[in-house]
Amino acid sequence: MKASDVDKNSPVPIYYQIKELFKERIEGGDLEPHQRLPSERDLEKKYGISRMTARRALTELESEGYAYREQGKGSYVAEPKLRQALLELTGFTEDMKKRRMSPGARVIEQKLVDSDQELAAKLEVEVESKIFVLQRIRLAEGEPLAIETSHLRHEECEGIEEYDFEDRSLYDTLKNDFDISLSWAEQSVEATLADEFEAENLEIDKGTPMLMTERTTYLGDEETPIEYARSIYRGDRYKLFVELRS
Ligand code: GLP
Repeated sequence: MKASDVDKNSPVPIYYQIKELFKERIEGGDLEPHQRLPSERDLEKKYGISRMTARRALTELESEGYAYREQGKGSYVAEPKLRQALLELTGFTEDMKKRRMSPGARVIEQKLVDSDQELAAKLEVEVESKIFVLQRIRLAEGEPLAIETSHLRHEECEGIEEYDFEDRSLYDTLKNDFDISLSWAEQSVEATLADEFEAENLEIDKGTPMLMTERTTYLGDEETPIEYARSIYRGDRYKLFVELRS
């Protein structure tokens, strides 16, 4: 990158031009994950810009997930975000395998509960019916990426509470051991900020932007909900992807 790459007469703000130049270099592979980025001071000197402009370029690279900061050391190129297609009904394990990443889980809790009114409505069961709750930290290559809390209609999969979900897929278990086929799901996505619990378990700072999805998945009859899940994905590692057609 040369100083002449930045056009000071352009109506496009300078911090923005610099940010875009870095994004191109990161996306093009010219800058690699964990490589150090120039400091505010380096940018200030190189482009003849103010410290504030330099800081803004770096901060925005961070908030868009292209860079991360190490306290007292500087900014570094972040790992590319994982693209999560929104149109396929797949589980975490399958998603990771497709990316040739090794999936994993740490179980926070798994238990049977009596459904309250909210869960009963979501899973279309009577209040106080048995529900299997499974809360897991989901890992890819050992890195914690998401916290998932699944609630399942227990009558469809009695005995599921005996399985160890540290290293097995829930969707595979439903299919192979309970002969349950999933037909479709409805899912919503919301932006949230990491709370203390999420921050601690995902090894991120409290307040990090997150993507929260809520999914209700239906059985083969297309009418009976089998799972209601709430998943919190790290916003710095995930990008949701949808293909739109006219
Ligand atoms: C996704 C869904 C969850 C589902 C999970 C199953 O991440 N958001 O609703 O429970 O996949 O994943 P696995 O089959 O790896 O247990």
